[in-house]
Amino acid sequence: MSQKFYITTPIYYVNARPHIGHAYTTLACDTIARRQRLLGADTYFLTGTDEHGQKIERAAEAAGKTPQQFADEVSNEFRAVWERMGLSYDDFIRTTSERHKQGVQALFRQIRDNGFIYKGTYTGQYCVSDELYVDAVGPGATCPDCGRPTETVHEENYFFKLSAFQDKLLELYEQPGFIRPDTRRNEVMAFVRGGLRDLSISRSTFSWGIPVPDDPKHVIYVWLDALANYITALGYGSADTSKFEKYWPADVHMIGKEIVRFHCVYWPAFLMAAGLPLPKSIVAHGWLLFEESKMSKTRGNIVRSETILEVLGADALRYFLLREVVFGQDGTFSFDALVQRYNSDLANGLGNLASRTLTMITRYFKGEVPYPSPARAAADDAIAETARQTIAEAGACFDQYHFSRGLEVAWALLAAVDKYIVENEPWALGEKQDHESRARLATILYTSAEALRIVTALVHPVLPQATAKIWQQLGLGRIEELNLAALEWGQLPLGTKLGKVEAVFPRADKTAVQRMQAMEEEQRTGAVPEAQAVPDAAAKTEVAPVPAAVVPAALIPATAAAVAASAPAKITIDDFAKIELRVGQVKVAERVKGADKLLRLEVDLGTEVRQVLAGIAEAYDPETLVGRKVVIVANLAPRKLRGLESNGMIVAASLEGGKPVLAGFLEDVPVGARLK
Ligand code: MSP
Repeated sequence: MSQKFYITTPIYYVNARPHIGHAYTTLACDTIARRQRLLGADTYFLTGTDEHGQKIERAAEAAGKTPQQFADEVSNEFRAVWERMGLSYDDFIRTTSERHKQGVQALFRQIRDNGFIYKGTYTGQYCVSDELYVDAVGPGATCPDCGRPTETVHEENYFFKLSAFQDKLLELYEQPGFIRPDTRRNEVMAFVRGGLRDLSISRSTFSWGIPVPDDPKHVIYVWLDALANYITALGYGSADTSKFEKYWPADVHMIGKEIVRFHCVYWPAFLMAAGLPLPKSIVAHGWLLFEESKMSKTRGNIVRSETILEVLGADALRYFLLREVVFGQDGTFSFDALVQRYNSDLANGLGNLASRTLTMITRYFKGEVPYPSPARAAADDAIAETARQTIAEAGACFDQYHFSRGLEVAWALLAAVDKYIVENEPWALGEKQDHESRARLATILYTSAEALRIVTALVHPVLPQATAKIWQQLGLGRIEELNLAALEWGQLPLGTKLGKVEAVFPRADKTAVQRMQAMEEEQRTGAVPEAQAVPDAAAKTEVAPVPAAVVPAALIPATAAAVAASAPAKITIDDFAKIELRVGQVKVAERVKGADKLLRLEVDLGTEVRQVLAGIAEAYDPETLVGRKVVIVANLAPRKLRGLESNGMIVAASLEGGKPVLAGFLEDVPVGARLK
């Protein structure tokens, strides 16, 4: 019987639309799942959406929708993007589904029957954004994880006896590989050693959740609800538990580093309390940064997968993220780096080697893999030897989640073959008809094609679409049928008839970066409405609000103001002096067709009248702006938005999720005055 392999992604909150941060985790899991399938494991890959809790309830309210409508829309969006990316998940679980509700209630009952749940009263701080009970004291305290203000909660709750599991958890962490990487394991151990308090696992002041069995005034704490997805998707608590019996425990829960505590402390403790087997490993990766901070909806600095899929294809995104970011550490995304990697490693690297080798076989051997001559040269053997080492090394790297290193190793083989081809000049041999030249040419092209086959097989889990095409071109049929465990040098069948040879990675031209940037810009400035931000917690409670940050709102969405509110980078006075802020007067204001958030303004700066595009259409009617004085970032490089040039940026302020308010009190200031 084949071995089983069960891998999961976190389930994604539906308050934010999918971006490449979410895609990163999902495609890493997809890569591992594909590799396991090729190795012959009976693989099950789960993903889905996390749809309950106060955060989602508030986001839906802000969007003027019912939580269910709201969750349906965003969940569908996640699913649609995953489909477009060709991700090979076996199941997509939604926490609002009936099967999940049943399973969560069964788990709650089991833990309660085993004596680990009691009723009590919780008074303390809660972070809605992280859905986390915070140990910090007093109203106004900020969340130690995300820095946002917490809310005071005073409720009768059900409590889970987390404190009873401290020793067992510490013992569990001794298991090699249970938490990866070690840095995360050390953090978790320090946290647990610091002492565990019992955990409130129900809420009673809102209703968007799964009712506690036999006490429906309470809804189950959203993290207990969410974590349970890993077993409810397999049928735990339902009439058919065959999948649960087959696949549980999970081999890998893949997560981002910010949710380690929930997965490494709460989840194993819940399972221990229910008497269920524990997952085998929890693997935490780092964050994808964009414009220097974690890519997230609140910061407004997201990049969507769709844009990259449209311009460069899904494989380009997969390759870039797994090659460029050292798994486990934070990594930076940029369009420039993406296009550069695409061209150098995919178009000029793998793509070029494939078309070069296969075209020569087509031309010189009528499209049939030639028989290598028994008289081999040292260079031929060296390629075979490098390929053998690559199979072992790259495979081991992928199994250890060292994707970047694994790809580097595979690309070193490509580079060696490239060099081999250049040095042996098969094109020169192709001009000759003597027996010796033909035999030599056959050996060179066989060796190159065999090395190409090996790289293609090894990197198929990372580049499923392109490698499937190369496999077809090599005349080998469906790559999904490959047995990776048996991959060896010399298996390319002689005389194989090649398929039609076509470029798999057409070179990206100079406009690729601009096109992608423009698509994202359009998205941000409201051509397509964005999901509503979670209303700022402060606006709802007596907790002192985060001070409104003064940030340019003209070219970015209102939510991006939170960037400045959450993590202001320090600049020197010289840096500030570089920004030319001037007072201007609006002469003309009108809406921009097709962009819900954008206004076109003509602003008099005293010396000239500038056209500026501002993302403030949801907050201001154009008529109210004419004659008004505004602050402009006057020395911003011109940018094009929806085909119109914007020459400067309007300064406005907003609270997270709120509408932008123009920086004002300027009526006595003459037009053209500089702010210092
Ligand atoms: N709903 C919870 C998880 C419950 S799992 C039982 C949650 N959802 S989330 O949508 O906020 O984020 C989930 C995951 O998305 C992160 O753990 C991470 O895997 C991925 N990422 C979201 N933004 C990311 C980056 N900017 N960079 C890398 N991964 C990111 O937490």
